[in-house]
Amino acid sequence: METLIGKNILVAGATGGIGSKLIKLLAGSGANLFITARNKEKLQQVAKENNIPVEKIAALDMADPAAVNQLKEKYFQQFPSVDILINAAGIGIIKQTDLLTEDDFMQSLQTNLFAPFLLVKAFLPSMKEVKKGLIINIPGVLGKVPMAGAAAYSASKYGLVGMMQSIREEVKRTDIRITNLFLGGVDSPFWDTIDLKVQREKMVQSQEAAKAIWFLCQQPASGVVSEMVLQPFNHQVI
Ligand SMILES: NC(=O)c1ccc[n+]([C@@H]2O[C@H](COP(=O)([O-])OP(=O)(O)OC[C@H]3O[C@@H](n4cnc5c(N)ncnc54)[C@H](OP(=O)(O)O)[C@@H]3O)[C@@H](O)[C@H]2O)c1
Repeated sequence: METLIGKNILVAGATGGIGSKLIKLLAGSGANLFITARNKEKLQQVAKENNIPVEKIAALDMADPAAVNQLKEKYFQQFPSVDILINAAGIGIIKQTDLLTEDDFMQSLQTNLFAPFLLVKAFLPSMKEVKKGLIINIPGVLGKVPMAGAAAYSASKYGLVGMMQSIREEVKRTDIRITNLFLGGVDSPFWDTIDLKVQREKMVQSQEAAKAIWFLCQQPASGVVSEMVLQPFNHQVI
């Protein structure tokens, strides 16, 4: 395992069920963290709990190109490079297609596909300069396997997988590593607004999902974990 001491890590979605647990693990491992999410109060709370100074946090809508440009500026005022970029932000709109609104569909694409594109566009050039780095996204299993009601969500997550696999080809002559984490149901606030019969107590605990990302961050640079799949046994009520 590679040490995280002194590693410069940017985490998007740092206030989420998975993200907030991940920040604790990374902060406890001696990484230099810069964290972002949309809600300022929640972000300040996570920063306070983990002794992250205010100049290393940025509350913004990641689907806004101007805001991501500001994030880039603010980040590079604090750190000269980015060793690891983790995108733990996202939204889940799960509805039968006839109930999906145009706004639901576009919001899914904006948050789960366009925002990760903006992040990569902002931070990949710095990794390319030094020819190394690690980018972790969480497409989830619905970025690999279809499910009824997931037309918008899966469209965004399959898109994310395709985009990252294409970028992997683009950087294959460098030591820039790209990891896609395919999580099954994780008990987090993600499910609060989803109208689906699930057994949250049988899902993967958000702490365990965070540990999987923490593990991925510590993989030696001589190899790459291109994909990891972590699923609960079964949380759907049949
Ligand atoms: N939970 C699951 O079962 C599961 C399974 C597979 C994959 N995943 C994926 O794992 C990731 C994390 O999920 P989670 O369970 O931790 O969800 P969560 O608890 O709902 O957290 C989502 C995070 O994304 C941030 N976010 C959402 N929209 C944003 C935007 N436009 N700009 C900036 N930040 C935004 C939220 O920040 P604010 O609260 O400030 O908006 C929050 O920090 C997501 O990509 C999700 O698709 C989750």
